[in-house]
Amino acid sequence: MDNTPVKVGIIGTGNMGGAFAKALSLLPEVHLFIYDRNPHKCEALAEGRERLIVCSNAAETAARSDLILLAVKPQMLRDVLRDIAPRLTPSKTLLSIAVGVLSKDIAEASGGVCPSVRIMPNTPLLVGEGVFALVLDDPELPVQTKRLITNLLQAMGKVYIMQENKIDAFSAVVGSGPGFMYLLWQAFEEAAVALGFPRKDAREMALATAKGSALLAEQSGSDFYKLYEMVASPGGTTIAGAMHLERTGVKGHIADAVMKCHARAMELAGQKK
Ligand SMILES: NC(=O)c1ccc[n+]([C@@H]2O[C@H](COP(=O)([O-])OP(=O)(O)OC[C@H]3O[C@@H](n4cnc5c(N)ncnc54)[C@H](OP(=O)(O)O)[C@@H]3O)[C@@H](O)[C@H]2O)c1
Repeated sequence: MDNTPVKVGIIGTGNMGGAFAKALSLLPEVHLFIYDRNPHKCEALAEGRERLIVCSNAAETAARSDLILLAVKPQMLRDVLRDIAPRLTPSKTLLSIAVGVLSKDIAEASGGVCPSVRIMPNTPLLVGEGVFALVLDDPELPVQTKRLITNLLQAMGKVYIMQENKIDAFSAVVGSGPGFMYLLWQAFEEAAVALGFPRKDAREMALATAKGSALLAEQSGSDFYKLYEMVASPGGTTIAGAMHLERTGVKGHIADAVMKCHARAMELAGQKK
């Protein structure tokens, strides 16, 4: 990224909008304008962040920004777009992270004045390890805006550029994925406590095991099954536990949970038509 200032507005500073505000505020080129209907959320984010300005409403945020990140729940998006529509111009770009809201619905609700992109983030964005889907299909998007948005996201994590028809599938795996991982780790923590370890140690053990396993998989580049075989020696203890997982269909259940997420995103998209 060059040093030209980029004015980014964030409307809705809850879990995701707040995570974007924190991550973007670390990038020296970014000037942030934020608004949430709960003023305390913005005030907390503004503390100690010089290039972050709290706006009085969504329309002001849109008026002061070039890139406008819409980070309210999908069911609130239409109201926000109606409020900001009079302040949009062709040189601005809408960035939507709403699960299940199509670009054509965003264009319709905003009057189609400016182009839009869809981004699907996940919560590890809070620690600079976000994984993003990015949809740049809008034919009105200038090349330099595409490059700018891609660069901004790359500064905060890993980016997959894809077509819009893939974004709900991505969201099921990567957006919801952290939630499933935490439930699995919670199960490890519970088991460790059941085996007599103090809660604090149990949590740390689950976390260190997850972190080390992810790093090993990343650095070795090996298939997950090969890495599993490294642990599951013939006649050993891991294979005894793994057989239980196979008998009770745990892998299938996890895959089904991801498919359910995908189905729910499609259902939400249908409800909004
Ligand atoms: N959480 C995730 O892991 C995740 C992952 C991928 C995508 N997303 C998407 O991210 C978006 C935000 O989700 P979230 O989990 O961050 O929700 P959230 O924590 O509820 O944050 C939304 C914030 O926007 C505020 N808000 C609602 N209506 C508003 C309005 N008209 N003007 C200004 N602020 C308003 C909400 O206030 P109230 O609390 O008063 O309603 C809340 O503070 C959703 O579209 C979701 O689909 C989330």
